[in-house]
Amino acid sequence: MSTFQAPKGTYDLIPPDSAKFLAVREAISAPLKSSGYGYIETPGFEDVELFARGVGESTDIVTKEMYAFETKGGDRLALRPEGTASVLRAALEANLHRLGNLPVKLWYSGSYYRYERPQKGRYRHFSQVGAEAIGAEDPALDAELIILADQAYRSLGLSRFRILLNSLGDKECRPVYRDALQDFLRGLDLDEDTRRRIEINPLRVLDDKRPEVQKQLVGAPMLRDYLCDACKAYHEEVRVLLTAAGVAFEDDEKLVRGLDYYTRTTFEFVHDGLGSQSAVGGGGRYDGLSEMIGGPALPSVGWALGVDRTVLALEAEGIELELPATTSVFAVPLGEEARRVLFALVTELRRAGVATDFSYGGKGLKGAMKSANRSGARYTLVAGERDLAEGVVQLKDMESGEQSPVALTAVLDELRARLA
Ligand code: HAM
Repeated sequence: MSTFQAPKGTYDLIPPDSAKFLAVREAISAPLKSSGYGYIETPGFEDVELFARGVGESTDIVTKEMYAFETKGGDRLALRPEGTASVLRAALEANLHRLGNLPVKLWYSGSYYRYERPQKGRYRHFSQVGAEAIGAEDPALDAELIILADQAYRSLGLSRFRILLNSLGDKECRPVYRDALQDFLRGLDLDEDTRRRIEINPLRVLDDKRPEVQKQLVGAPMLRDYLCDACKAYHEEVRVLLTAAGVAFEDDEKLVRGLDYYTRTTFEFVHDGLGSQSAVGGGGRYDGLSEMIGGPALPSVGWALGVDRTVLALEAEGIELELPATTSVFAVPLGEEARRVLFALVTELRRAGVATDFSYGGKGLKGAMKSANRSGARYTLVAGERDLAEGVVQLKDMESGEQSPVALTAVLDELRARLA
């Protein structure tokens, strides 16, 4: 018999592991929520042109990895490969930038799609939590975002990650550098594909991992030497603020990133326990993106952290998150009458906010107690005919094993007191 499987490059999140993903999303978003970022949710697909113009025609993401399709109505759409272009599009559409309160600070969490060659840590469907601060040019904002990501990783117990920091310059100084780099690269012995890349996206060539290419790159002009005074001063201020916050970073002048919209500050969070797919998050400033997608000038900065890879990083560091059991009380009825009475009690407890589950399917005591154990509940309520005749249920503390009868009418108060 044939069965279906998750599509290539995807996987399912199932209990108990799925709880880890929820906890990671929560840990990443918590510092944002308490730092003035409001939640935004955008569609899973957009006009394909938004990404072509925003992320960039010369990037692998747009040319090779996008799930683009035509709808029955003839619209050209793409599953979102990233969140920044969509969030900015939504902010512009809702005129958030005109409400007179800049920067507009937004955070999001969702699924993203890239048609990549799957391997451990690289999937075709993956999950990010991201943050965008739109409409302000202020090094403190860049620093804030990096500090909040650092705080998020640390709150999960991670320590083997590093922050790589670079400046990509602005529309004044980057074109000058680009020309100088192109001149240098054109003189090298490179294959056809790489030669083409020199013309479209020369900075990406610096990122080429092949040793025969890296060898030739020694002596290439470095952007650092071309940064204009304004970019230099801005970058220095970001560095000063990070240092003052006690957030360690490494200057990495080869950090280029795979999206075209970046200007000035760029950064990546890499984890040393993850092998080749080591980037657990990344981001930077994108001062020109708004204009690229038809908006006014709105200097902005943001990041996205990969949830899948953050979970892998936890595993690499051997970190077990302490996830409280989701069920506090488990009810085990013995017999028909008890089923009705205990089911009503379960409903009452739930309505009162006590996390309660029930033994379904007419299991015997042994099987039902197994389910109670598996649920992680601290307390079990057991009742049979004799208990009901006396108006009580047996309340068992699953940690100590102690059991005592409690009047049906007193169960809620008793549990509240014990769980408090
Ligand atoms: P990105 O570097 O393309 O940046 O993605 C951010 C993070 O998403 C990566 O560091 C990685 O952890 C995760 N990720 C990316 N692709 C995959 C994949 N195929 N499988 C698993 N995880 C993946 C952005 O997306 C920018 N929008 C970030 C940003 C926000 N820049 C400014 N604001």
